[in-house]
Amino acid sequence: MTQTATAAASGESATQRFRADKAGAAATTSKERVDLLARSVIEAVHAAIRTHKVTYDEYNALKAWLISVGENGEWPLFLDVWVEHVVEEVATEHRKGNKGTIEGPYYVPGSPDQGAKGTVPMREGETGTPLVWTGKVTSTDGSALPGAKVEVWHADADGFYSQFAPGLPEWNLRATFTTDDDGSFEITTIKPAPYQIPTDGACGRLIAAAGWHAWRPAHIHVKVSAPGHELLTAQLYFPGDQHNEDDIASAVKPELLLDPRPAGRGETVEYGFVLDPVRA
Ligand code: DHB
Ligand code: FE
Repeated sequence: MTQTATAAASGESATQRFRADKAGAAATTSKERVDLLARSVIEAVHAAIRTHKVTYDEYNALKAWLISVGENGEWPLFLDVWVEHVVEEVATEHRKGNKGTIEGPYYVPGSPDQGAKGTVPMREGETGTPLVWTGKVTSTDGSALPGAKVEVWHADADGFYSQFAPGLPEWNLRATFTTDDDGSFEITTIKPAPYQIPTDGACGRLIAAAGWHAWRPAHIHVKVSAPGHELLTAQLYFPGDQHNEDDIASAVKPELLLDPRPAGRGETVEYGFVLDPVRA
């Protein structure tokens, strides 16, 4: 099936999603922090200009490009690809439990709850290798966390996310699981394909102009939450993917690699999560 997901359409959906869920933070950032952080970023730009003797042509190319990032609605994509991974690193450096990674622009809260064991909503005959994933959610002291929420979302075999590319059912390849009395869950889905960030907008033009590539390795996004514990946002990756080493979003960590085994028509994999209790 051919579908088109333009940078402008994905960017617009990602912008709306961001506004609905997270845009309130500006109001709670103090004047002192805004002063410190804005000055520090502006000074880093000045330093790059001096170090590399930036010309007026280069300055005007940057200005034109920044204007088009906004016009294409690509700020959520740009920031999540090139900036979020360092924010995530700083935000979670105190944790003793599971490694996490970036959320990216395509999370939607409220996906259908499938209980402890079930299949992610998908189309009849959805393309892709079937994957049965079992695991357990525990706390850092080893105790099981029953009733924990495991929210998963991922691209289809063409690399498209429901609600951000046209023509897909609303909750395609998005679901929430609730762990059993012993903290366990079992998720049946399909293996996603590598994902290329949209190449027809401003971010794509930067990638082409710099001679980079636009690929992320195949990945399953997850958010794991339990009362009294810090929310874990992560992505799981598949061994052997050529983009595990050169992810455009710099979000792969060795702890997030799955180890799937062939089973019947598809594959099985075991991967559980260790959550950090909320700090006192
Ligand atoms: C982007 C897309 C993703 O699926 C992801 O996980 C991270 C970033 C993006 O297009 O910005
Ligand atoms: Fe993604």
